[in-house]
Amino acid sequence: MEIPPALIELLRNAERAVALTGAGVSQESGVPTFRDAQIGLWAQYRPEDLATPEAFQRNPKLVWDWYAERRAKVNTVEPNPGHHALAEMGRRIPSFILITQNVDGLHQKAGSREVIELHGNIRRVKCSECGQNAIRWQENSPEVPRCFSCGGLLRPDVVWFGEMLPAGALEAAAAAARNCRVFFSIGTSGLVQPAASLAYAAKSRGAALVEINLEPTPLTPLADFCLHGRAGQILPKLVGAVWG
Ligand code: APR
Repeated sequence: MEIPPALIELLRNAERAVALTGAGVSQESGVPTFRDAQIGLWAQYRPEDLATPEAFQRNPKLVWDWYAERRAKVNTVEPNPGHHALAEMGRRIPSFILITQNVDGLHQKAGSREVIELHGNIRRVKCSECGQNAIRWQENSPEVPRCFSCGGLLRPDVVWFGEMLPAGALEAAAAAARNCRVFFSIGTSGLVQPAASLAYAAKSRGAALVEINLEPTPLTPLADFCLHGRAGQILPKLVGAVWG
């Protein structure tokens, strides 16, 4: 896959860029998607039995165990060349904001500084009552661990189906999208709102839209540049072509 010369030129001169990333970026690190993780014992449950506030109310232990298992998996994975290339773009472009729907924290692990996590972070745990993040907890306790401050049940610091996004995250993401010159949509199906609307907001304010995905998505007809293939291959190549 050749990097279009017009895209190279655009990025060399770009002062402000934004990248929205999704599950496809972590796929090459071996992070299973929600559905992929639903194997064995977990296959019998519907997503709404594992990832909603109602599910946690009904059966907090089940939900805690599901996330404890996924957290253990995420703790074993490493950023891939796509994450590293995005961190490098952050060092090269004066204002580069990463907006991610992923909860694995791999962008930060690769060295990206400005990361807006729209769906939280599975490595963090917070109190379901007072909202305070927990610093320590017993991972495999027979009961769901409790908050040191208020005694409430601890839960993963992720956004469940039907919950609001973290305060300020969407506003910050929307502002970044409106103000950028180049907007990347990488490894995301472009289906889940409100993240999907960010690309439209950027485009309508004059940004160039660059899509990197294995396959076409609903955003493809709108994109100025479509790079089809694996993010872990295309992103390092792009960074090499622009700044190498
Ligand atoms: N490189 C580039 N793109 C890839 C790769 C790869 N190696 N592997 C997969 N993709 C693409 C797929 O073609 C698909 O378009 O990544 C996209 C992944 O789509 P989804 O699984 O729908 O993930 P995402 O868009 O992040 O979903 C958004 O929905 O399930 C919820 O909360 C969850 O954060 C998630 C949100």
